[in-house]
Amino acid sequence: MIFQALKQNIDIEDSVFNKLFSTRNRRLAERHWTPVAIAKIAADYLVNKPNKKVLDIGAGVGKFCLVGAASTKGFFYGVEQRASLIKSANKIAEKHNIENVKFIHSNITEISFSDYDAFYFYNSFFENIDNSCPIDKTIVPKSELFISYSDYVRNQLSKTPKYTRLVTYWSTWEEIPESFDLEYSELNGVLNFWRKMS
Ligand SMILES: C[S@@+](CC[C@H](N)C(=O)[O-])C[C@H]1O[C@@H](n2cnc3c(N)ncnc32)[C@H](O)[C@@H]1O
Repeated sequence: MIFQALKQNIDIEDSVFNKLFSTRNRRLAERHWTPVAIAKIAADYLVNKPNKKVLDIGAGVGKFCLVGAASTKGFFYGVEQRASLIKSANKIAEKHNIENVKFIHSNITEISFSDYDAFYFYNSFFENIDNSCPIDKTIVPKSELFISYSDYVRNQLSKTPKYTRLVTYWSTWEEIPESFDLEYSELNGVLNFWRKMS
């Protein structure tokens, strides 16, 4: 019903979508998972033609990927370091027969961006410098990780082909190479749409 509605471009409230998650993951939604309306706008920009492969850098419980997969003709790949979140994301995708989504349990530093066409980033490494609302205790925050993960993403993005699309939500821009131009912003600069121009 939720995914059917998304496929038909019917608006879904976050309070409805988040019922797919466990109580614990639902409580984390406001701070950590992309709102449905924003995921739809971002996915729409990234999938500017059918079958584009979109990588969510730090997929959490899969919300961005699940919304994107249901509302566009792209393929969504979410890499996530926390096994429990991957398990939950896979369970939802299987139960609702969402076939154009895949979740990968890994650290982003193990992923080559050359396998993907477009990228989404919701400030995933910030947990290493702001511990005010931790997802869980399985990851020990370290400020060095914020720097090294951002460096890794910037380096991978700098090797992508010209015209590669990227959307950032609440990012510090640490991970964005100079070769990416800001095409436009929404939500007072919180949601940014980038394209590689050189
Ligand atoms: C703010 S949440 C965003 C979740 C999802 N992209 C969304 O928008 O709904 C960031 C996620 O990135 C994950 N993450 C942080 N650092 C990571 C890393 N180095 N490799 C893989 N995942 C990471 C965290 O575990 C967390 O689940």
